[in-house]
Order: sequence, then C-alpha cells, then structure tokens
Amino acid sequence: MRTPFLSFTALAILCAILSACGMPRSGGDIGEGPRSELPQDFGNLYKQNCAGCHGAAGEGGGSIPLADPIYQALVDDGTLRQVISKGRAGSHMPPFAQSAGGTLSDSQIDTLIQGMRQQWAKPVNLGVKIPSYKAQNPGDQKHGGQVYAQFCASCHGGPGEKPGKAGAVTARSFLQLIDDQSLRTLVIIGRPEFNAPDWRGDVPGRPMTDQEITDVVAWLSNNRLQPTSAKNRQGGF
Ligand code: HEC
Ligand code: HEC
Repeated sequence: MRTPFLSFTALAILCAILSACGMPRSGGDIGEGPRSELPQDFGNLYKQNCAGCHGAAGEGGGSIPLADPIYQALVDDGTLRQVISKGRAGSHMPPFAQSAGGTLSDSQIDTLIQGMRQQWAKPVNLGVKIPSYKAQNPGDQKHGGQVYAQFCASCHGGPGEKPGKAGAVTARSFLQLIDDQSLRTLVIIGRPEFNAPDWRGDVPGRPMTDQEITDVVAWLSNNRLQPTSAKNRQGGF
C-alpha cells in the first residue's frame, strides 16, 4: 500500500530530478533560441550530426558526398530542408527536426544549409545540363533493364551474377536499404570518393539521358519488390 507520505516523497524526488534537468520547459517556441545543448555554428553542427555518415569534410563514405559540387548544384534548399528535417523513409537518413523527434531547431537546420552552400557549392560548368533532381515520370522498367545492361553491368555485374569491380546494386538486400530518390541521386552524382562515375561517365561517348536515369531506377526499384525466391531463402530467412 502506498501512503500519502510516500507519494509525496516520490513527487518531491521527481520534482528535484526534473528541475536539475532544467525542467519544466516552456512549451512551443520551437526555433526560438537554443533549446538544445547542441552548437549553433555550421562546423560543429555538421561534425556532431552528419560527419559520421557523410564524411568529416562532406566527402561521403558511409553515404553520399554532400560536398560534391555537382550534388550542391543538383539539389535545392527546399529539398535539403525537407530531407534534413524529416529524414528519408526507406534509407538510414534520420530525421533531425525537433518537430520530427530529432534534436535540431529550425534555425540550426538553416545554419547547416547555409554552411553547406557557403563551403561546398561552386559554380559547375560541365558543358552539359545536369539531369533534374526528381524523376519527371514513373519510368519504363523494361527499358530500364536494357539501360542497366548498357550503362551499369560492366562494373556492377548483371542481375544474379557475381559483381565485378563494384558492389551488387541489383541485390534485393541492398535495394531494401535505399529509396528511389537516393538511387537517382547516386546515379547522377556517382560516388567520386570511390571512383564511381557520375551520369556522364558510365560508358565512354555520351552521358545518360534524364529518361535513361528514370528508367534504370524504375527497374532497380522493381527488383527491390521481387519476393525472395525459395532458392534465395536457403540461408535462413
Ligand atoms: C546514420 C547515417 C546518417 C546521418 C547521421 C546523416 N545522414 Fe544524411 N543520409 C544518410 C543516408 C543513408 C542517405 C540516403 C542516401 C544513401 O542511401 O546513400 C542520406 C541522405 C541525405 C541527403 C539527401 C541526398 C539526396 O538524395 O539528395 C541529405 C541532404 C543529407 N543526407 C544530409 C544530411 C545532413 C545535413 C546530416 C546531418 C544533420 C545527415 N545527413 C546525417 C545517412 C545519414
Ligand atoms: C565504371 C564503373 C561503374 C559504372 C559503369 C557504374 N558504377 Fe555504380 N559504382 C561504381 C563504384 C566503384 C561504386 C562504389 C563502390 C561500391 O559501392 O561498390 C559504385 C557505387 C554505386 C552505388 C552506391 C552503392 C552504395 O553502396 O551506396 C549505386 C547505387 C550505383 N553505383 C549504381 C550504379 C548504376 C545504376 C549504374 C548504371 C547507370 C552504375 N552504378 C554504373 C562503379 C560503377
């Protein structure tokens, strides 16, 4: 049985703990001044929140190279804000906005975007138009298979084949951890940190067209959805 005295003690202890932690907080006011202990400057915000996956200087490694000037030219501020705030479903990119369960205020997210632009965006003059960030249509999966054979298989291997110089991007296990927009981004910018070509350099002679990129992503996306066959399941799952 709990006596009123014990309840009072428990409440007092709870109050002491809460006030030690700086509670209670005033509700609302998200973005009004520093609510978290996190830094306010770009260098430290980036280091503490992003460097582990996107590289200490934005060079990539675990995930895409945010500092790549082609990436900076490809993406607009609204998309950056959306992805950093809400994360990206279907990948390991976490949400950072307090409103989405993260730790960063809106002004800290703005600082990140401005810092990336200041440090990493450069004029890029490639002599060829950068494809659009988003796909313009759902794409033609069947044609995408041919595009894969022409532009990707020489390095990544055909479906079900042993990969060659580069990883098996057709494997369902890989595709389940990456969403379609991230695939599109990667096909456009490549992974310069691992010598993976951008959309201009997959085969000698000509860059991929916007539609070829859309189609190859549609085809890869369809591979993600294929049920695992009984043969592939022998490993245990
Ligand atoms: C746990 C690892 C992880 C952390 C930490 C992380 N990211 Fe990401 N990020 C990812 C992954 C994974 C993707 C999806 C692309 C991929 O699969 O390669 C991604 C995608 C993105 C994209 C979208 C790329 C596109 O297609 O346009 C942006 C922008 C981005 N991250 C910025 C940031 C910023 C800024 C931070 C720090 C506030 C951050 N990320 C922290 C893993 C991470
Ligand atoms: C000249 C060789 C080459 C060609 C051609 C090529 N890639 Fe790559 N690709 C690489 C290398 C190298 C990497 C980085 C190492 C790795 O992930 O295996 C890579 C990485 C990737 C990744 C990221 C994998 C990851 O782990 O995040 C994707 C997705 C990808 N390539 C898709 C494609 C697609 C789709 C095509 C065809 C449109 C293509 N690549 C053409 C060499 C190539």
